[in-house]
Amino acid sequence: MRLEAENLHVHFGHVHALRGASLSTDGREILALIGPNGAGKSTLLNSIGGLYKPSSGKVTLDGHDITGANPRAVVDAGVTLVPQGRRLFGSMSVRENLELGAFTNKSSADIAKRIGRLAELFPEIGARLDIRSSALSGGQQQIVALMRGLMSDPKILLLDEPSIGVAPMIVQRIGQEIRRLNRELGIGIILVEQNVPFALKLADRAAILTQGRVNYAGPPEPLNDHDLLTQYFFGGRPTHSAA
Ligand SMILES: Nc1ncnc2c1ncn2[C@@H]1O[C@H](COP(=O)(O)OP(=O)(O)OP(=O)(O)O)[C@@H](O)[C@H]1O
Ligand SMILES: [Mg+2]
Repeated sequence: MRLEAENLHVHFGHVHALRGASLSTDGREILALIGPNGAGKSTLLNSIGGLYKPSSGKVTLDGHDITGANPRAVVDAGVTLVPQGRRLFGSMSVRENLELGAFTNKSSADIAKRIGRLAELFPEIGARLDIRSSALSGGQQQIVALMRGLMSDPKILLLDEPSIGVAPMIVQRIGQEIRRLNRELGIGIILVEQNVPFALKLADRAAILTQGRVNYAGPPEPLNDHDLLTQYFFGGRPTHSAA
């Protein structure tokens, strides 16, 4: 499923957070979206996910216009957002948190079946479905947030900083799970990350957002050059220098 965000503008009062941001994915790849703090990465993801209404621009799925659709409609169309900061309900069990990710129109039998399937895919969490989610480690909670996103059987997952609050040793584990979702389940991924090396290693393609605009979209490898990356992050579009 092809997702295209075209020339999006989003305002929060006098803050002009997105200034003509464009991003697209074929829904088969892992696309890393990186950029400095406050660049608008979450705003772009949340706008695609229907949480914010762009003042102009367009979001389409396979050419079908979903700009300004409500979050439920976007989920129904196959795109699910896993927001920054996980947003689990700590006093609720893992199972109850997962139930919240299901379509509202699903029967409880269908929901239980889906949870059973995810419990097989993620056995470490599967063994902990009935404990409070606050009792899990940061890494385990992040997996639960991923699983909750998977409850709605998305074609494309939007992941906002899955490595945040996760012990460094566990970040690689989260990366493996994201790759598995993409390679084995065929789910397209847009991955927003502050952890740039982690994101570039995982990505098939990368995009850089600075000051509300995407100024690079292409292969991740060139961005391993620290100077080039810095120029994109802080200096606008680099002029092509002689190599
Ligand atoms: N709900 C909001 N109300 C007002 N301003 C907001 C809101 N959300 C974001 N902003 C502002 O919009 C700009 C972009 O913020 P955004 O959270 O999208 O950046 P980000 O790239 O995700 O940053 P970070 O890396 O810190 O997560 C910032 O100036 C931020 O202060
Ligand atoms: Mg953010």
